[in-house]
Order: sequence, then C-alpha cells, then structure tokens
Amino acid sequence: MGTPMKSFEGQRVTLRPIDVDGDAPEWFEAMQEPDMHLWTANHIPIDVDEVRDVVLATYANHPDIFAWSIRESKTDKMVGIYWIGVPFISDEHRLVTFDAQRIAKPYWRKGYTKEARSLVYDHAFTDLGVEEIRASAWELNTNSCLSMESAGFELARLYPRFNPKYDSELMEREYVLRREKWQQLNGKPC
Ligand SMILES: CC(C)(COP(=O)(O)OP(=O)(O)OC[C@H]1O[C@@H](n2cnc3c(N)ncnc32)[C@H](O)[C@@H]1OP(=O)(O)O)[C@@H](O)C(=O)NCCC(=O)NCCS
Repeated sequence: MGTPMKSFEGQRVTLRPIDVDGDAPEWFEAMQEPDMHLWTANHIPIDVDEVRDVVLATYANHPDIFAWSIRESKTDKMVGIYWIGVPFISDEHRLVTFDAQRIAKPYWRKGYTKEARSLVYDHAFTDLGVEEIRASAWELNTNSCLSMESAGFELARLYPRFNPKYDSELMEREYVLRREKWQQLNGKPC
C-alpha cells in the first residue's frame, strides 16, 4: 500500500503519486516555513536528503496510507501532500480513520486545499465505497479545524491529549464526515 491507485486532475490541482526523488527539493523549500509545523508532529528538515529519505519515503511507502503529491495544474509546482488512511471494515462499515494535509503556506486559503479534498473524497466515497471519514486536529489549529468544518465535517468528540511539542495536555477535536452529508453538500446523487 502507500501507493495511490489513481491520479486526479482538477482545475487548479493535480494529485499524483509521490515521487520521492523529484518532489524532495521543492518540498524541502516548503517545509522551511515554521508555520507549517506549529500543529503537526513534523519539524523543519535539515536537508533535502531528510525530506527524500524520511519525510517523503514515509508517505510513499507507509502501509496504512494512500498519499498524493498535490501539484498546481497550470505550473506543475508542488502545492502539498494529501493522505488518507487505507479504508477498512469495522462493524460492517467501510471507514477511513485518518485524513491529513500539508499545504505549502503560499497556497493557504486560495482554494487549492478545497479542490484537493474534493478529488480525494469523491474517490474515497465513490470508487472505494467509503461510508465515513474520520479526522482529528488540535483545537488550537484553527486552520485545520475550519478547513474540515467548511468541508462538512461534524464534531464527534472533544478530548484532552498530551501534545509533546507543547509539553502539555491540549484539546483535540475528532471529526466525522459521512458519505450522505458529502453527497448532499456537493449535489451528488445518494
Ligand atoms: C490546515 C491547512 C491544510 C488548511 O489549508 P487552507 O488551504 O488554508 O484551507 P481551506 O482552503 O481548506 O479552507 C477552506 C475554508 O475553511 C475556512 N477557513 C480555513 N482557515 C480559516 C481561518 N484561518 N480563518 C477563517 N476561516 C478559515 C474558510 O471558510 C475557507 O474557505 P475560504 O478560503 O474560501 O474562505 C493548511 O493551513 C496547512 O497545511 N497547515 C499546516 C499543516 C497542518 O496543520 N495540517 C493539518 C494538520 S492535520
């Protein structure tokens, strides 16, 4: 696993499999921005080798995720990384239990994440038969919480969890997006 089954082409973004060698220099540059790391477990990588051999290799080869490199369709510049958990069956429901993005800061709030989400969720809910996507974010990660809420995610649970970066217990928000809600919001047949 770890290798996406499909590439997707939208108006603004194209999602394709991660190319650990080709993507590394651009992703190293993007990851130098400190704001990218405020609410993630990542740190600023020290060189392109670390990005290639650790960061991107993990996304590309992890057995539990499908990960894509997001490119700007017009320029082929790297916009970010998107991944979801490999769907599995629990209590007779097909679920994705995590979903995350790392979007380079110049592309925040410009519609790139929205379109990337849309391409991934159409694929998950339609092609992969997923019924529910679950995802979590630190409550103080306003960008992530509002980005999910704007896509239709609903709060399922709010709970304290230890955050090693801040060496303290912080609130985490767990969200759920159900297929019917996604279809209603996006005018797709149920
Ligand atoms: C979280 C992240 C992916 C959000 O990307 P983004 O491109 O800014 O967000 P979206 O385009 O999906 O936002 C969709 C909508 O959510 C709302 N929204 C998002 N951030 C907001 C904010 N800071 N204030 C108000 N509304 C916000 C808006 O309605 C926005 O639509 P609009 O831009 O048309 O007004 C991006 O900030 C990022 O990569 N951060 C660093 C890594 C990270 O924290 N990842 C998530 C960890 S799980």
